[in-house]
Amino acid sequence: MTTRVLTGVTTSGSPHLGNYVGAIRPAISAARMPGVESFYFLADYHALIKVSDPARVQRSTLEIAAAWLACGLEPDKVWFYRQSDIPEIPELTWLLTCVAGKGLLNRAHAYKAAVDRNRAEGEDDDAGVNAGLFMYPVLMAADILLFNANKVPVGRDQVQHIEMARDLGQRFNHLYGEHFTLPEAVVEEQVATLPGLDGRKMSKSYDNTISLFAKRNDLQKLIAGIVTDSRAPGEAKATDGSALLQIYQAFASADETAAMRHAYAEGIGWGDAKQQLFERIDADVAPLRDRYEALIARPQDIEAQLRDGAARLRVQHATPMLQRLRESVGLRDLASSSTAEAAHAKKEAGGAAPTFKQYRDADGKFYFKLVQGERVLLQSAGFASPRDAGERIAAIKQGALDDRTQDFVLGDGVSDEEVNAALAAFVAAQLDGETGKA
Ligand code: TRP
Repeated sequence: MTTRVLTGVTTSGSPHLGNYVGAIRPAISAARMPGVESFYFLADYHALIKVSDPARVQRSTLEIAAAWLACGLEPDKVWFYRQSDIPEIPELTWLLTCVAGKGLLNRAHAYKAAVDRNRAEGEDDDAGVNAGLFMYPVLMAADILLFNANKVPVGRDQVQHIEMARDLGQRFNHLYGEHFTLPEAVVEEQVATLPGLDGRKMSKSYDNTISLFAKRNDLQKLIAGIVTDSRAPGEAKATDGSALLQIYQAFASADETAAMRHAYAEGIGWGDAKQQLFERIDADVAPLRDRYEALIARPQDIEAQLRDGAARLRVQHATPMLQRLRESVGLRDLASSSTAEAAHAKKEAGGAAPTFKQYRDADGKFYFKLVQGERVLLQSAGFASPRDAGERIAAIKQGALDDRTQDFVLGDGVSDEEVNAALAAFVAAQLDGETGKA
C-alpha cells in the first residue's frame, strides 16, 4: 500500500527562504521516503483568484517550477504538473460545487476574513470579493480528491481547507457511492515557520521576504536588513525572539546553532552575526542557485516537463477517475442503464416516501400495495380480512419481507434492490417518526 501525498503551490509570487524551509525542503525529503507516491503541482487556477496580472502568473509559474526542480524534485519519480493542464480538475470542481453547502463555504477563513474586513470598514459584506475566493476551497478539494490523496502537508492556515475537502468528499460519496478517499492534513510541527526581515512570519503579503535565489550580493544586502535591537558589539544579545537566530537555526546543524547562541551570550556584534548567517545560508543555497539559473534559462524544457507530467497523470488517473464520476452522477451514455441507480434517482427525484395503501377489490378480498409516488413497488395477493392484510403490512414494516410466503409480487419493472431501498427508507422514516424527529 502506498500513501499518496499531495502538495500544491499557488503561483502568485517568487520563491523565498520561508517557502524553502517551510515547504520545498521538507516536501522533497518526504518524497524520498519509501511507500510514498508524491504529487506536486502548480496551482495556477488558484493564482487567478488573487492575481490579475497575466505576466506575473506566468513568471511565478516558471519560477516556482524551476525552484522545485533546482531543489531536487525528480519528475521521473513523482507527479509534477500544472493544475491548468488537467481539465478534469475544473470539471470535478463543478461536480463538487453541486454538493457544497453554501453555508459551509460562508465559513471558510479566507472568505470570512474578507467579510470581517468589509464590516469593520462599514462596507457591504461582499465588497471586492470575487466568487473565485468564495469557491477557493472547492477548487482545492478537487485538486485533492481527484487523485484520492491520503495526506496533504499544509500550514496551519490551510487545515480548514482540508477539512472542507473531506466534507465534500464525504457528501459526494454518500450521494453517489464510495469514490473518494478522505484526505488528512499533515501539519509538520517541527518544520520552522521562518520569520521575515521585520520579525513577523516571512510572507509576501508582509513584504518582508528574502528571495530564495537572490544573487550572492543581493542576499548579503537583504540579510543586512534583518531587524535587530540596538545593542552594541560586546553586549550580550537576547536569543529569545531573535529573528536572525531563528533563520540561522533553520539552516544550521545543532552544533552550529549552539555555537551561535554562545556567540550571542559573548556579545557578538550584529554585523558579524549577519555575516555568519549569510555565509551559512549561501553554503546551502549556492548550488541550488546555479541549478535554478540554468533551469530558468530554458523555460521550454520546464514547459515540456510539466506537459509530460500532466499528460501521463491524466491517462493514469484523472481521465478514468472523472469518467467514473460522470457516470456516477448521471452524465452518461443515454443508451446505458443501471437499475440500482435508477431506484436511487427515483427516490431523490420523487422525494416521496414509500407508503402502504390498503383497499378492497371487486372480488371482495383485501389487498395492499406499496407505492412510491406514482410507482407500485409491491402488490399483495388477496387476504380474507383487512386484519390479515394489516398484519402482513406490519410484518413487512419490521423488515420481514420473507418472499417465500408468496403473498405479494413486485410491481412491473421493479427490482429487488429498489424494493429493499424503499423499505429501508420506509423503516427509517418510521423510526424517525417514533423518536419524534420526523
Ligand atoms: N491553497 C494552497 C496554498 O495557498 C495551495 C493549494 C491549492 C493546495 N490546491 C492545493 C495545497 C491542494 C494543497 C493541496 O498554500
